[in-house]
Amino acid sequence: MIEIRSSLLSSCAACCNVQVTFTRSLHLTVSSGRYATSVEIADAIPSTLLSGEASFICRVATGPQLSAAEREDVWQIFEDNMKGLYVKSIFGWDPPTKRHELFHRLARYILIYGPQTEQNGSASGQATLPLVAYVGFRFEDEDGENVLYCYELQVSNVSQRHGLGKFLMQQLSNVGRHWQMRKVMLTVLKANAAAKKFYESQGFTLDPSSPEYYGNVKLIQASGEPGESEEVCGKTAENGDDSWEDEDEAEDCDYEILSKAITGL
Ligand SMILES: CC(C)(COP(=O)(O)OP(=O)(O)OC[C@H]1O[C@@H](n2cnc3c(N)ncnc32)[C@H](O)[C@@H]1OP(=O)(O)O)[C@@H](O)C(=O)NCCC(=O)NCCS
Repeated sequence: MIEIRSSLLSSCAACCNVQVTFTRSLHLTVSSGRYATSVEIADAIPSTLLSGEASFICRVATGPQLSAAEREDVWQIFEDNMKGLYVKSIFGWDPPTKRHELFHRLARYILIYGPQTEQNGSASGQATLPLVAYVGFRFEDEDGENVLYCYELQVSNVSQRHGLGKFLMQQLSNVGRHWQMRKVMLTVLKANAAAKKFYESQGFTLDPSSPEYYGNVKLIQASGEPGESEEVCGKTAENGDDSWEDEDEAEDCDYEILSKAITGL
């Protein structure tokens, strides 16, 4: 991969400016991340996790690699944790669409099974351990920037507040760093106060692509500088136009987009 990129850089140097060359090399990285195999991703993360006295097994899989039983486990944790929030949200409760998203060919998963005990431990392996947490993600290009988009982070009810969510987000940063992604991004419902607190504790902040972020920018612009057109909740309006009820629209959005830069690239 490095060889291909350096030859692209040198062959472009004569005809392209640096910015174009840089952008093209980034796209190449996203493509390679997009086709990263589960084995390659597994190499970038630990295979086990110790949390207090308990030990867990980590596994990496793509959406299509999950068996029917594993898909049901993934779905069950998602439904238990999220149905109540989704039914009241702008997204609604739409299992077919959500399942399609969850098990898409571009979806990648880090799954945690356990805890291992003396009874169910190494002899029986992961096959008999229950799924307790997972993170689903994709390599994406967001407005020309390479990002690792976290589509789903779920910890089963009884396993919450034991550091599994934190561990999974750390592994996302590790994977992102390995494939030279610029940041980890995610969408969180505003009503999901616990998750918002969790992401805040992990260093996530409002991303510039978040509807509310633009609402905040508009509030600043209203006191002075006119700007260019902005997109709020999928709608475009011109700054300086009094009829644009951007603040209301931002408030109508019941989700936020958060991100965290990947350091050490
Ligand atoms: C949100 C979630 C992923 C967090 O995972 P977790 O394993 O329970 O969290 P961790 O134990 O790793 O917590 C790390 C830190 O986050 C913060 N945190 C986690 N849950 C919190 C909560 N409910 N309220 C306040 N802070 C919280 C704390 O600072 C915590 O550190 P501490 O336990 O030492 O105080 C998990 O609770 C979950 O799956 N919730 C339901 C599904 C969900 O909302 N997913 C996110 C969708 S966007």
